[in-house]
Amino acid sequence: NIQRSLRPKTFKEYIGQQDLKEKMNIFIKAAKMRNESLDHILLYGPPGLGKTTLAGVIATEMGVNLKITTGPVLEKAGDLAAILTSLEENDILFIDEIHRLNTSVEEILYPAMEDGELDILIGKGPSARSIRVELSQFTLIGATTRAGQLSTPLRDRFGVTHRMEYYQLEELKEIIRRGANILNISYDEEGITEIAKRSRGTPRIANRLLKRARDFALVEGSGVLEKESVDGILRLLGVDDNGLDELDRNILLSIINVYNGGPVGIETLSLLLGEDRRTIEEVYEPYLVKIGFIKRTPRGRVVTEFGYKHLGIEKIFSEKE
Ligand code: ADE
Repeated sequence: NIQRSLRPKTFKEYIGQQDLKEKMNIFIKAAKMRNESLDHILLYGPPGLGKTTLAGVIATEMGVNLKITTGPVLEKAGDLAAILTSLEENDILFIDEIHRLNTSVEEILYPAMEDGELDILIGKGPSARSIRVELSQFTLIGATTRAGQLSTPLRDRFGVTHRMEYYQLEELKEIIRRGANILNISYDEEGITEIAKRSRGTPRIANRLLKRARDFALVEGSGVLEKESVDGILRLLGVDDNGLDELDRNILLSIINVYNGGPVGIETLSLLLGEDRRTIEEVYEPYLVKIGFIKRTPRGRVVTEFGYKHLGIEKIFSEKE
């Protein structure tokens, strides 16, 4: 699996997120000196910024096992109990989309995180009773695109909370160079820069575009990944100079054409576009907000002057707006 092979295994290989790496290095050293598990960690931010990768790196640096699961697949308390009881001392459990845990699952997580205990209800009706299981010390790394959707009791049980940021251009270039070297791709700097510019600050997208540009360079170009191959493939993929795709543009155009630039609520927008609300809110909108094409207001989403300019549409903005 190529994706996996591009994943960095250690902090030394992990590019960017400098402040996070610095603080995690200290916490990891301290935990090792005390021979304890690391405190529970909550990572939040847009998808593709390396939350799962980071959990892997932390496990490597701690020298422990990593188990990976996702909120929605843990349907019953027993599903989580099975995983928790299989963990060894100081292991890391990574739960992606942790904001989508069932309440019944979430409830057994609290005592597990806090006291290393599992209270399992067995049987039904009058003969039902609860048994208590002592767990090994473990670290929960929770990941979510929406910290605001986490219940307060769950959020309060994390010792470290970190917001993952979009990557800077130079960091993305370094990630792409690293990927190109691992995949044995010949490239020039312009080609790398072009991919970085159109990756929406997101390593997952950068690595994907790198592979597609390599295909294009091989079939249609010189075999060397250069600006022309990147331009060529991104035109085919419908990705513009800012890295925006069809849906990004449709979001902007819908707000402009149907709602005269907004404000419009997310529910309305999602119906209008026939696109999952969560996808718009968690994947598309954060980047459009970051590059300043959309503003979130209490009454809904508004396309900014920048957004209009990008699409080449004229609008006279009054002072107030
Ligand atoms: N691949 C995905 N995220 C990465 C990162 N932060 N550093 C290096 N390679 C990556």
